[in-house]
Amino acid sequence: MRGKLVVGNWKMNGGLAANAALLSALKAGWQPAAGREIAVCVPYPYLPQAQAALAGTAIGWGAQDVSEHDAGAYTGEVSAAMLRDFGCRYAIVGHSERRQFFGDTDGVVAAKAAAALAAGLVPIACVGETLAEREAGTTDAVVVRQLDAVLTRLGPDVARIVVAYEPVWAIGTGRTASPEQAQAVHAMLRARLEKAGASGVPLLYGGSVKADNAVALFAMVDIDGGLIGGASLKAAEFLAIARA
Ligand code: PGA
Repeated sequence: MRGKLVVGNWKMNGGLAANAALLSALKAGWQPAAGREIAVCVPYPYLPQAQAALAGTAIGWGAQDVSEHDAGAYTGEVSAAMLRDFGCRYAIVGHSERRQFFGDTDGVVAAKAAAALAAGLVPIACVGETLAEREAGTTDAVVVRQLDAVLTRLGPDVARIVVAYEPVWAIGTGRTASPEQAQAVHAMLRARLEKAGASGVPLLYGGSVKADNAVALFAMVDIDGGLIGGASLKAAEFLAIARA
């Protein structure tokens, strides 16, 4: 059975004091249960803080990106092995903000997923269409192209990743995909993964998930949890989503 997973993506937010409060509220409020997991993906400098706060708890932590390279002259980059040194379980790859603002192509995203896996991390590979692509009727083609780049690169190892469907038009906009819209894309991605022998891959939905829409979204048969941006910065809201 696929487990349930809710991951917070803090993006470029936080500070030592605010993080300490947020992490201790998550620790105090999260009731671990079999087959249900939560994690936070924090900015790189705060990984030691997340590790110190969360080690030995049921809450995982990770990074929001990772280099496709192992080591060397890549100024500003952070390798998957470095993330492992700080106890990371996850690394998000291919978030639409990385694709949009930092030029991460499908090939780069696939290489990052491979680097993460090779170091023992679980990549959370994001796919999703823009509003223009949805309106042009190309949603399926876009997300399949993005997923296939990862499938081709990883081969059978794809069974060890997490996939997040995040329609770009729903990220940070307050505009969520309806449960039916999300489910339709998830069903298509699920079929693709099954064909690749990876039916156990958790499929998360992301894009303006809040406590008040999480129940309906997570009730969909192919939605195994969420990747949560803005709402992951408030402990009560994030925990309410996780309980959904
Ligand atoms: P949001 O972001 O929940 O703020 O829409 C989700 C994401 O970008 O992962």
